[in-house]
Amino acid sequence: MAAVQKGARDTVPLRAQALGIDLAALPKHVAIIMDGNGRWARRNGLARLLGHREGYRALRGVLLTAAELGIKYLTVYAFSAENWRRPSDEVDGLMKLIEKAARDELRAMHQNNVRVNVSGRIDEVPAGLRNALESGVETTKDNTGITFTLAVNYGGRAEIVDAIKRIVQDGVKAEDISEELVQKYLYNPQHPDPDLMIRTAGEMRWSNFLIWQAAYAELVVTDVTWPEFGETQLLGAVKEYQRRTRKFGAVVE
Ligand code: IPE
Ligand code: IPE
Ligand code: MG
Repeated sequence: MAAVQKGARDTVPLRAQALGIDLAALPKHVAIIMDGNGRWARRNGLARLLGHREGYRALRGVLLTAAELGIKYLTVYAFSAENWRRPSDEVDGLMKLIEKAARDELRAMHQNNVRVNVSGRIDEVPAGLRNALESGVETTKDNTGITFTLAVNYGGRAEIVDAIKRIVQDGVKAEDISEELVQKYLYNPQHPDPDLMIRTAGEMRWSNFLIWQAAYAELVVTDVTWPEFGETQLLGAVKEYQRRTRKFGAVVE
């Protein structure tokens, strides 16, 4: 590292390279199951909602880091279709927090050329949140930087059910159904499949996130809780991803 001049490591790509990351082989699409806000709060003697608030802070940093690194697609699990099972004050607090975050961050995201996108049954979330998300998508739709997708009221099985309904409504014939056709009926058909799926807080499960799309994603689980996740952990996950050999069922020598 002696050749790196003072100040030259002041950007994310340079810091990534200093860690041995190959910038030409980045995952194009990174998906994150942002888990552990509640455990982080409990460990710090705080209410769960304060954990979610810290989680939002972490997300703001990770989005900027991912964009600066050169990730093209970042998809994060903000609220699952199963999270309605939580106590109503936590659900209400999360809906308000996501709405406030969407409104407060819109200007900065737009300035950073972020294209905002949503995934999930958005018609079932409170109107204020739905409006905030829709105006984010509309405002940023022509941006050409990172595509940032917020999965809200998202369930992988629900997504597949919604796809099947529309396939049937369109009168598609059985012999015309293929993986490519199903893909076209998913919530974001234009997105490439995630290459790297990160889960924080240690659980080794998918919790119904992108179960179709993540068929061949490389999974990296870290014990760090989501509020503690930052550049170091993101670059660590990318480095781990680059150590993997992706085979897609084939033989790779
Ligand atoms: C993830 O943190 C955020 C959401 C699911 C909305 P959790 O709230 O699931 O945190 P833990 O799993 O209880 O620690
Ligand atoms: C997954 O986390 C959902 C989000 C991160 C939004 P959960 O905390 O809901 O997952 P489980 O219940 O531990 O499987
Ligand atoms: Mg959890």
